[in-house]
Amino acid sequence: MASKPKAPSTQFVCTECGCIAPKWLGKCPDCGNFNTMEEEVVRAEPAPLARAGVSQVRTRALPLSKIGYEKFDRVKSGIAEFDTVLGGGIVRGSLVLLGGDPGIGKSTLLTQVSAHLAKTQKVLYVSAEESCSQVKMRCERLGLTSDNLYLLNETCLEDVESALEESQTVIIDSIQAVYTETLSSAAGSVGQVRECAAKLMRIAKSRNITFFIIGHVTKEGSLAGPKVLEHIMDTVLYFEGQQEDNYRLLRAVKNRFGSAQEVGVFEMTDEGIKSVNDYAQLFLSESRGVAAGSAVTPSESGNRCMTVELQTLIAKTAFGAPRRMSLGVDYNKLVVLIAVLEKRCGIPFYSSDVYINAMGGIRLGEPSVDLAICAALASAANDVPIDRYTAIFGEVGLTGEIRPVSYADKRVNECIKTGFKRVILPAKNAKACQKYADKIELIPVQYVGQMIKTLGLKPANAPPTFGAKE
Ligand SMILES: Nc1ncnc2c1ncn2[C@@H]1O[C@H](COP(=O)(O)OP(=O)(O)OP(=O)(O)O)[C@@H](O)[C@H]1O
Ligand SMILES: [Mg+2]
Repeated sequence: MASKPKAPSTQFVCTECGCIAPKWLGKCPDCGNFNTMEEEVVRAEPAPLARAGVSQVRTRALPLSKIGYEKFDRVKSGIAEFDTVLGGGIVRGSLVLLGGDPGIGKSTLLTQVSAHLAKTQKVLYVSAEESCSQVKMRCERLGLTSDNLYLLNETCLEDVESALEESQTVIIDSIQAVYTETLSSAAGSVGQVRECAAKLMRIAKSRNITFFIIGHVTKEGSLAGPKVLEHIMDTVLYFEGQQEDNYRLLRAVKNRFGSAQEVGVFEMTDEGIKSVNDYAQLFLSESRGVAAGSAVTPSESGNRCMTVELQTLIAKTAFGAPRRMSLGVDYNKLVVLIAVLEKRCGIPFYSSDVYINAMGGIRLGEPSVDLAICAALASAANDVPIDRYTAIFGEVGLTGEIRPVSYADKRVNECIKTGFKRVILPAKNAKACQKYADKIELIPVQYVGQMIKTLGLKPANAPPTFGAKE
């Protein structure tokens, strides 16, 4: 008698239409899209009793008052800025994903952290990309040594699981290099990354082990692999910076145990990665106040405030449609603000290429940078520099009105600390900042046109349309 065929353990599902196929196909037979079939593990069928709708108690909800919780005990990593970005230290049993460009220093940072943690607990460093001797060489170069730091050169996740033993912290370097035996696809494929991450999450939560997982980023700068990778993690960090200079920024983009706005500043030295405490001048240039097109804004990120310079450049369009390019500022925001300046203040940009850059490689996502972008653009269009000691913040609406922003007093305080003499701010924030009036000149403004006038700039080639009436 022929034996019953074995049910397949994996299947291929189209990410666009959900079509299921037993084998990988280059083109989805249903929706016709190419390269959308992804491997998935087939989950066990639910028990017939449950399927038939027969009541079967499998789990029970609890009232809020009956739910106990353990206090998160946070462990220090030995690098102050790293702790700040994590929200005050490493939470036991959490999953932290660290993404970054190749060679930026991800392995270096986590080697330093693991060596510090190994002073008090057993730490396992799973190096799937480098050999153990390479990691040892790095440790020796950084002057790190510990008998509690274990190295493992392994790519199979099941083998890693069997080697965990009593480890309290595990570093996976990197998620794209490990694979699980349940899937036949190659390590680093979307299905593998998702399955490995889910498996690590189950281990972390069931055995209360902290996982630091290194992830590679794509050319566009986002984490390689499925988006679900970021959903599974408790904390997602990006390590950024330019290879040429030694400064690095660590940004939290998701944090279940702290603020997701936090930014840490580091310096890459011969002895490894060090925290930078004096970052006041890091995001400001020497040409400030001399060259046209730059404006400074106090930016609030997490628990800290930093004054950041925005530089713009306007060049005549030589051919075709004008170009707009932004680094560190949202592209759409730049386009909208250019339209506001054209329509509400009569500054034409239709025949100019516009470039904008936030100094020091920082990213400014807050609405409060709007006004400084407008000021920098108006300064560049007029070819008149903005005073070196003036800082600007406020949100700009499509009507050209300036809206209030959060933490206005904190921003003004940071401007005072960094040596600024005057600050242009939304009129509705002026009252909250009045306590600083004796230390810094406060210039409240209501409309973009008013701000441009205050800076001594003129709208070019168009009648002035300052104020509300147009
Ligand atoms: N011998 C050395 N002396 C000083 N700095 C070094 C030395 N070797 C490496 N580095 C620095 O360390 C950086 C690489 O660090 P690391 O290997 O931690 O990066 P990574 O982000 O893990 O890279 P990858 O993506 O390749 O794994 C290099 O860019 C370099 O600046
Ligand atoms: Mg590495």
